[in-house]
Amino acid sequence: MNVNGVPTRSIWVEDDGWSVGIIDQRELPHRFVTARLTTLADAAQAIAAMQVRGAPLIGAAAAYGVCLALRADASDQALEHACAVLLATRPTAVNLKWALHEMMAAVRNRAREERMSAAYRRAGEICEEDIGINRAIGRHGAKLISAIASAKASPVQVLTHCNAGWLATVDVGTALAPIYVAHDEGMRLHVWVDETRPRNQGAALTAWELGQHGVPHTVIADNTGGHLMQRGMVDLAIVGTDRVTAKGDVCNKIGTYLKALAAKDNNVPFYVGAPSPSIDFALEDASDIPIEQRGAEEVANITGRTAGGRLATVRLIPEGSGVANYAFDVTPARLITGLITERGVVGASQQALARAFPERAVRSGSGPLR
Ligand code: MRU
Repeated sequence: MNVNGVPTRSIWVEDDGWSVGIIDQRELPHRFVTARLTTLADAAQAIAAMQVRGAPLIGAAAAYGVCLALRADASDQALEHACAVLLATRPTAVNLKWALHEMMAAVRNRAREERMSAAYRRAGEICEEDIGINRAIGRHGAKLISAIASAKASPVQVLTHCNAGWLATVDVGTALAPIYVAHDEGMRLHVWVDETRPRNQGAALTAWELGQHGVPHTVIADNTGGHLMQRGMVDLAIVGTDRVTAKGDVCNKIGTYLKALAAKDNNVPFYVGAPSPSIDFALEDASDIPIEQRGAEEVANITGRTAGGRLATVRLIPEGSGVANYAFDVTPARLITGLITERGVVGASQQALARAFPERAVRSGSGPLR
């Protein structure tokens, strides 16, 4: 997608042919800053500190983390150590485990001197596959928007939560992909952007992305969506996912569940952009998904730009108050209208998922990282 008109991806191999470039997403929307990763530790830190975030991008960054580790040491022990370090960075998005499985499979049985080039090759493929998947999600999801557009005169109103756009993937995005396709095809639409406290990925990242692409949008406080749905001001919701269970339950950014409940109560279709690497066919019970809990400072404080242009962090809550910071929640399959996958819109059920991805239903979860 474009940044100030220049086609840009969220992760890339630098001109030196080996170091890895990223956008430091902690600085957006106020500053566009890139960073260069040269070691396994850099990659692990970029994921843990959320310089890069979003399930597919976490997977891609981990894949390049393996490449950087193998540059320093291509032994079996180094490979296993790298995967263990990267796997520990963030627990919820299954794309991390998926990407590390893929990297292991690509290099494990090779001679040491071949491992590094095989790793870069597979990491590059993971990135290209992500983009292909997201383009397909965009095409399938745009048909849903088009069906609504053809039945109303005013712009289609879409609500989204967190950031599941190109910044959360290598390019294109998942939940935002149908929006970009529909917009590019000339459909009139408007996006309600949940701010997504505590880290404000909606207000900071989704609003920035949509603005860069010229998509009309309005940022709303997280509690606003239910009210808009009651008033008939939302035609459909599309969100992303960090992990879909084999039964179709969807784990995504905290607050997604409440939006799905409100959508159900108001007959608003609730869709999930779900690339297959985000589907965990090995996990049936959503209560087994590790829900990341992050630092208290994300809830206690807020960071923004002052009128003078300086970035400042201020405290919101009383000294001494306790804080809980659950980063994700689970939306049960019964609240989900459909999963927009690269193979089309699939029902949120075990049967529908197994039918759409028969090969994954058997294969997933095998291997040493399980
Ligand atoms: O904590 P984050 O910013 O990594 O969470 C991101 C989300 O929850 C996204 O909705 C999800 O990863 C899907 S991204 C295409």
